[in-house]
Amino acid sequence: MELPRIGMGTFGSDKYDEKTVAHAVEFALEAGFRLFDCASVYGNEADIGNVFSRAFASGKVKREDIVVMSKVWNDMHGAGKVTESCLKSIEDLKVGYLDVYFLHWPFPNYHAKGCDVTSRNENSRPFFADEFTAVWREMESLKDKGYVKEIAMSNMTVAKMKAVLPLCEIKPYALETELHPTFQQRELCELCKREGIKLIGYCPLGSPNRPERDRTAEDVADTEVSVIKEIAAKRNVHPAEICLAWAICKGHVPIPFASKEKNILNNLTVADRIKLTDEEMLALDSVDCGNRLIKGQVFLWKGSEDWRDLWDEDGKIADWEFAGDKWIKKEN
Ligand SMILES: NC(=O)c1ccc[n+]([C@@H]2O[C@H](COP(=O)([O-])OP(=O)(O)OC[C@H]3O[C@@H](n4cnc5c(N)ncnc54)[C@H](OP(=O)(O)O)[C@@H]3O)[C@@H](O)[C@H]2O)c1
Repeated sequence: MELPRIGMGTFGSDKYDEKTVAHAVEFALEAGFRLFDCASVYGNEADIGNVFSRAFASGKVKREDIVVMSKVWNDMHGAGKVTESCLKSIEDLKVGYLDVYFLHWPFPNYHAKGCDVTSRNENSRPFFADEFTAVWREMESLKDKGYVKEIAMSNMTVAKMKAVLPLCEIKPYALETELHPTFQQRELCELCKREGIKLIGYCPLGSPNRPERDRTAEDVADTEVSVIKEIAAKRNVHPAEICLAWAICKGHVPIPFASKEKNILNNLTVADRIKLTDEEMLALDSVDCGNRLIKGQVFLWKGSEDWRDLWDEDGKIADWEFAGDKWIKKEN
């Protein structure tokens, strides 16, 4: 399947309600967007489905003209639940099948909608490759049954990919992961390219409207970085457009969300309007500073305190054992 060069995100960041997101999707669809990144946890699939069904009924767009992606949320990892969640997304989105279905996070830890950064679920647990693989098997069965055309992963690390890829009967078609100029994840991107796994870049503009729970004082705003601002000023465009042009030039498929019509139109046409030079791309390489924005603190388990425990920054998956009331990291 050929993916469009850019897609439309649909996460309302706990800020834009379902109707606002659905309206943005409708405008984007009419304008020419053909890829939509949805998820059950965004709570707006039924409203977006109404947009799709109106478009199909009017004959303006055919089902096969658009690429619709969705994701199974972390509270639906149990046996049979992945299928249940997939069928519910298909029904809500009114699409008959999904083009790509993602395993949203690699563990069953979930949080309540709109929670703050201190929120913890006492059932949260570390990543285990065998648990992941059991869920992946059910993902594989969805493709076998024809409910979805492709299955894919999200929020993985290099270490987790290396651990699970040999266990997959069907390799992931894509990896959806955070990618923007200040967070380039080069090793992970290289691994995906080597394995033929497409890269879908989320928060491609540095998610300026992300929920409070995903903000810390050290975060860098991509659109405020001087190198990016200077390139944008020279080209008389918004720095956000430089972030998208960078992603497209790197070969990722960025999936920006925008509620404003002007932003939606600008994003749609970025690939045709902005071709960054080698010199500009080199300058943009230098702004990478490991600026992870979606840290996932709310997914931490009892015994872990630091969001870095989720991301295998030393290249290894830590070994954890349950000690009665909390998880303890084993010394390797
Ligand atoms: N797999 C995952 O775990 C995961 C995690 C996070 C996000 N995602 C996906 O990635 C998508 C994108 O991430 P995101 O929505 O957090 O952040 P984002 O796309 O980086 O940023 C979105 C914000 O940027 C603004 N914007 C968009 N286009 C612009 C332009 N041309 N000029 C200036 N500002 C512009 C929008 O403002 P206005 O609203 O004012 O237009 C919007 O609020 C999500 O919607 C979701 O589909 C996936």
